[in-house]
Amino acid sequence: MMERIAPSLEGAAAAVPGAIVEFRHATISFDGPAVLDDISFSVGSRETRILLGPAGVGKSVLLKATNGLVCPSSGSIFLLGEDIAAMKESSLFALRARTGMVFQEGALFDSLTVRDNVAYQLIQERVPDEEIDRRVKEALAFVGLEHTFDLFPGSLSGGMRRRVAIARALIRNPELLLYDSPTGGLDPLTSTTIIELIVKQRDFYKTPSILVTHRLQDAFTMVTHRYDTEKGGMVPLPEGQTDPNTTFMMLNEGKLIFDGSIDELVASEDPFVKEFLE
Ligand SMILES: Nc1ncnc2c1ncn2[C@@H]1O[C@H](COP(=O)(O)OP(=O)(O)O)[C@@H](O)[C@H]1O
Ligand SMILES: [Mg+2]
Repeated sequence: MMERIAPSLEGAAAAVPGAIVEFRHATISFDGPAVLDDISFSVGSRETRILLGPAGVGKSVLLKATNGLVCPSSGSIFLLGEDIAAMKESSLFALRARTGMVFQEGALFDSLTVRDNVAYQLIQERVPDEEIDRRVKEALAFVGLEHTFDLFPGSLSGGMRRRVAIARALIRNPELLLYDSPTGGLDPLTSTTIIELIVKQRDFYKTPSILVTHRLQDAFTMVTHRYDTEKGGMVPLPEGQTDPNTTFMMLNEGKLIFDGSIDELVASEDPFVKEFLE
């Protein structure tokens, strides 16, 4: 690949030392035209990247490409320092195990208890039962759902199911979190409780993450709030302050049309960004 021999200026600029994720001119197509076209960005070790864009622009594909569930047709994708396009499935499996993904709609197994859903990967890895119980309880406590341990997902509300999906993503202390539309399909009040939980994760464990949303409100809440441990809830940052580690990207028609801070987003002259913010 050309850019590996002679990095273009843009490619070199994207090569952030210690980046957790880096896309370098990645293009992804299935049968038709490219779904993602020449995408370059990185996620630093403390960063929360919020990926905005309307339905069908490739947000879920970008998340799946990040942990190797979808392969680029050209360009490179680095995950935790490894070039995943060049990787065998077995090594990719081990690398993917170091990340946590919250799938769109939560994607729980309805025939398994909450305990077995949250423990799913640990069960595959034959972790002893007692250790599983302990770790599941810890993960459920973090999302405020200890009492659902023996319940089935079908008996939980939409918001609770989403919390269980987040607990499942957190169970192995991931080095990267990928949230696909974590508030999709939820009412505004429940959405805020999920965003509060994500802010708690961000401010408590400081795990780098990419969060996909089409809801501008979620994005603004995340960048203008912090988690207050003493209060046990999310509080607004002082007037005029925003979280410096929470930054934005926007996709449209396969292109990354924005990459920057909240101030840059609000000041953007890009017609599509302006329309999205209205
Ligand atoms: N496995 C796949 N095979 C073929 N096309 C796909 C596949 N996954 C996604 N697409 C297409 O890629 C485009 C972007 O999809 P997606 O990433 O799910 O959008 P978003 O998450 O932004 O709503 C859509 O046109 C979708 O049909
Ligand atoms: Mg999607």
